[in-house]
Amino acid sequence: MEIPVIDFSKLNGDKRGDTMALLHKACEKWGCFMVENHEIDTQLMEKVKKLINAYYEENLKESFYQSEIAKRLEKQQNTSDIDWESAFFIWHRPTSNINEIPNLSQELCETMDEYIAQLLKLAEKLSELMSENVDYMKKAFSGSKGPAVGTKVAKYPECPRPELVKGLREHTDAGGIILLLQDDKVPGLEFFKDGNWVQIPPSKNNAIFVNTGDQVEVLTNGLYKSVVHRVMPHKNGSRISIATFYNPIGDAIISPAPKLLYPTNFHFGDYLKLYGTTKFAEKAPRFESMKNMTNAHKNILPSN
Ligand SMILES: [Fe+2]
Repeated sequence: MEIPVIDFSKLNGDKRGDTMALLHKACEKWGCFMVENHEIDTQLMEKVKKLINAYYEENLKESFYQSEIAKRLEKQQNTSDIDWESAFFIWHRPTSNINEIPNLSQELCETMDEYIAQLLKLAEKLSELMSENVDYMKKAFSGSKGPAVGTKVAKYPECPRPELVKGLREHTDAGGIILLLQDDKVPGLEFFKDGNWVQIPPSKNNAIFVNTGDQVEVLTNGLYKSVVHRVMPHKNGSRISIATFYNPIGDAIISPAPKLLYPTNFHFGDYLKLYGTTKFAEKAPRFESMKNMTNAHKNILPSN
């Protein structure tokens, strides 16, 4: 199973309809996808990873291997409630706390700020595109105070006994849209799809990996899913993961789009065509098919 790849360069030409349909399908069926040609400066992305890796080596690595987590693994005690992870969190919006994080160099703070500013444009674009596909979502992220944006910076350190512990236990994400800058060599991220764990490959060429959180599932009335995922640790190589959360602000009121019980704006001819093959079946699945069909139609209309 190949995870969907959305090529953002195709949004501005005659492939826009197909690309929107692909995005819609990815959100519906996968809850995650890769974004290529996102227009974020790739040199900047490389610099973020390099500086974070150096920060981990200098400030976090030693204490991680001396931590309670490492001791529990060494003694082979219960590891079902721990994560083999060394992480910290940075808030960017509405207010930034980046200058309060111990030992972050000025260069790293500035590089991160620059990266987040570019990434936010991609997040806004994605929320616009998703809203275009499902009519509703953008409002929740762009209230008068704007979105809440934070980054979980994590390393999944080399693990001597990867069979005994998870890098990060399985979960869904709480918020909105998650944009991940991740390792280009070490794998580990896995998404649960159709009863199987699907391995997300390392990001080549600085593709951004995107997944949607619980609020997107609520806002879209379950149409777009927040999908269970986890991180597996590795014996050789530690994986970098810089996950930026584009969330509604804390006091945003979240409620689902009014659920459409019946399909709208369809051609009767399309209905008849479907009816011809489903006449003696239940009518509810037929209505459902029409709803899906009208959604698909929406995707191929040119936007203005
Ligand atoms: Fe997550």
